[in-house]
Amino acid sequence: MKELSKIALAIEPSATMAIDTLFKQMKADGVDVIGFGAGEPDFNTPDDIKAVGKAAIDNNETRYTPSSGTVELRKAIAYRLKEDCGLDYTVKQISVSNGAKPCVYVSLRAIINPGDEVILPSPFWVSYSELIRMCGGVPVIIETREADDFKLTAQELADAITPKTKAMILNNPSNPTGMMYSRAELEELAKVVVEKDIYVVCDEIYYRLVYDGGEFYSFAAVSPEAKERTLLVNGVSKSYAMTGWRIGYVAANDQISTVIANYLSHCTGSPSSISQKAALEALTAPQDSVEFMRQAFQRRRDYMVEHMNKIDGVSCIMPHGAFYVMMNIEKLIGRKLFGQTIHSSDEFASLFLKYGKVAVVPGTSFNAPNFVRWSYATSLDNIKEGLRRLELFLQEKAV
Ligand SMILES: Cc1ncc(COP(=O)(O)O)c(C=O)c1O
Repeated sequence: MKELSKIALAIEPSATMAIDTLFKQMKADGVDVIGFGAGEPDFNTPDDIKAVGKAAIDNNETRYTPSSGTVELRKAIAYRLKEDCGLDYTVKQISVSNGAKPCVYVSLRAIINPGDEVILPSPFWVSYSELIRMCGGVPVIIETREADDFKLTAQELADAITPKTKAMILNNPSNPTGMMYSRAELEELAKVVVEKDIYVVCDEIYYRLVYDGGEFYSFAAVSPEAKERTLLVNGVSKSYAMTGWRIGYVAANDQISTVIANYLSHCTGSPSSISQKAALEALTAPQDSVEFMRQAFQRRRDYMVEHMNKIDGVSCIMPHGAFYVMMNIEKLIGRKLFGQTIHSSDEFASLFLKYGKVAVVPGTSFNAPNFVRWSYATSLDNIKEGLRRLELFLQEKAV
């Protein structure tokens, strides 16, 4: 048989999904396991959105739509971008696809030639490095530090840029760190982006989930020059608890959006007509459910951070957005637990799953080997029990 695609063979499976699959299998086998791995809200899709989805089926809205999404949905997206981020985009500059993930992919497809470098601050969401590689690009990873709130500085960005740099990926607020850039920090980064003339794929999927009264600021809003170079990715998955509906979008300048529309017209056809109707409702109806979920996430975050920091051997800093906490396990490296030496978060996570019956995501997949990611998109009861099990686990008491 002939060799398969070299590009495809080099792609690693998604580690977050692997942990989640193992967790679901254990659960299906009747094991009392608690999952903190999944990156999706535990809330159900709000009722009004579900009702519109059902009505779309009954009203036979079940055919192909334009490949970049219906005009009414794109108008609603333009409205939200204006309302929430102060941004002006035309309908033509917005492309809708099957979730934010394919939007990141098609954005990279639109700008990358083989060998182009794409700057990726770490810790990063697992898919970015693979998506860059899938487009023939070269990820250039810049490690950020917990002491700097895991944020990239303008100087670090400038130092990493070479003649081959085509773009950077900025995820704000961030998965996995939960950190959010301030307006001033974005302005500093934008100066470098404009001066060096690179693109920014800006994934803002968690923009509604920010805490402590913090104000989200979109990178594209910094200046017209920054906006011109931005491919703004967003979607309804996280803000509206709609992960299974698969609707995301990308907004970009006329030239880029034309390229993206052409690409999508061949590779995905159109996003689900039913989901587009539901997403339209999500974006245009009163936004109370978003606020309800946001407040619940904030309470859970507060509990998790406070109690995690009381446990000997681990610590975490306070995240300001998304729904993740990065637990620092540096003090456990080299220590033996249940007869096995912990060399990195991989061993920690598999031992914790085996003996603590708790699923967390090892930071190795985010390029942060001394950290594990906990998602607090789960009930307060689960969070309390998960932390109780962590304490027991660190005392080598199996659950
Ligand atoms: C940073 C980030 N971008 C994109 C996605 C994917 O979003 P969607 O489900 O809309 O494809 C995720 C999901 O975990 C994410 O964390």
